[in-house]
Amino acid sequence: MGKILVKGGLPLRGRVKISGAKNASLALLCAAIMAKNKIVLENVPNISDIRVMIEVINSIGASASWESQETLQIVPPQKLHAGAPFHLVKKLRASNLLLGPMLARFGQATIALPGGCNIGVRPMDLHFKGLIGLGASLSLEHGCVCGSTDNRLQGASIYLDFPSVGATENIMMAACLAKGQTLIENAAKEPEIVDLSNFLNAMGAKVRGAGTDVIKISGVDSLEGGIRFPVIPDRIEAGTFMVAAAATGGDVTIENMIPAHVQPLSAKLREANAGVIEGGDTLRVFVEGPLKPIDIKTMPYPGFPTDMQSQLMAMLSVVPGTSVLVENIFENRFMVADELKRMGARIKVEGRMAVIEGVEALEGTHVKATDLRAGAALIVAGLIASGETEICNVTYIDRGYHNLEEKLRSLGAIISRK
Ligand code: UD1
Repeated sequence: MGKILVKGGLPLRGRVKISGAKNASLALLCAAIMAKNKIVLENVPNISDIRVMIEVINSIGASASWESQETLQIVPPQKLHAGAPFHLVKKLRASNLLLGPMLARFGQATIALPGGCNIGVRPMDLHFKGLIGLGASLSLEHGCVCGSTDNRLQGASIYLDFPSVGATENIMMAACLAKGQTLIENAAKEPEIVDLSNFLNAMGAKVRGAGTDVIKISGVDSLEGGIRFPVIPDRIEAGTFMVAAAATGGDVTIENMIPAHVQPLSAKLREANAGVIEGGDTLRVFVEGPLKPIDIKTMPYPGFPTDMQSQLMAMLSVVPGTSVLVENIFENRFMVADELKRMGARIKVEGRMAVIEGVEALEGTHVKATDLRAGAALIVAGLIASGETEICNVTYIDRGYHNLEEKLRSLGAIISRK
């Protein structure tokens, strides 16, 4: 089942329910290994990145399994079995989030240098700087990061040169079990950071200020766990449906989401002349007149998310006029432009900038997903193109979207697998 077929031209209409957040779930699974007692996570999406992370934490001695469709139970390891193996870690960059928890809880960690989506260099220097600042010794041996602490980690002030999501998470988790107080300055402010902080506090940690530039953590001796915790909804999945609704000229109400988490996207869609109406945990996107071109710069939260840039590129490729996208987070995130061009889009990429001249229509053809969000963008493109679009490399899409085709079909799309 390696290909997705989309027949374009139909507006999406109806209601769709968003699953739990991939990126929040991945961090929570790593944090859970620090607990003493069993953790139950609710609203976890059953997607391949999560299944790989379950394998990774089980390989180091945890016992994680599905209690029901979206509920995971995790029995944390009492001692480490082994390092996280390369064949798993290479599939999932977020495995690097185990470094902090393993060091903090067990005083040692071995993790193969991670893989993940092919969207740029993605170094780990900020993770390392933070963990070394907390007193860990780190070395690179045979493609693995090996970490140890002589004693317990020590709280410290860590300034991040860039508000990296992963580095903030790794340092925040490690600091929970360090001795004394840690300050993370210029911390990332993404909703997933706040969810992780809430989860850590529910397990017994003392984290304050998540969601602001400065996070303060007072180390505790142990994290008890023994809790049930619901993961926040996936703002990027919600955003993908928002863009698909606008791009197809449809009218979709997205349920089980947090409208505040997608505000940068809502603002941009309104600027593009789409209607966006927020409810409590719902959001309706509809189109009444022609869409207008817009300019976008990706930024750390609360700026416009890099994870939504490709989907908007697909939408803007048929909006009359010139739109400009500037990618400030990952240097290699315009690969989807070449695929969209194969469908008739007019896009010029220069370094971190893409200039999109809207064409009258895209035409369905054979295209290839080059990363997770590029895959989502090609589905949006397929939904607005004439004829049939055949997308290969769909394993990328399966990494991050739960039941995507089923959900799109419920909104009237003609989409299938072969
Ligand atoms: C997370 C998300 C990803 C999202 C990204 C930015 C997860 C599992 N993934 O990725 O979906 O696109 O945030 O919102 O949560 N950097 C360094 N040194 C470091 C770490 C990062 O230079 O040590 C750079 C990266 O190369 C990149 C930028 O910082 O240019 C942002 O990366 P970061 O925020 O760390 O993203 P991830 O945590 O990898």
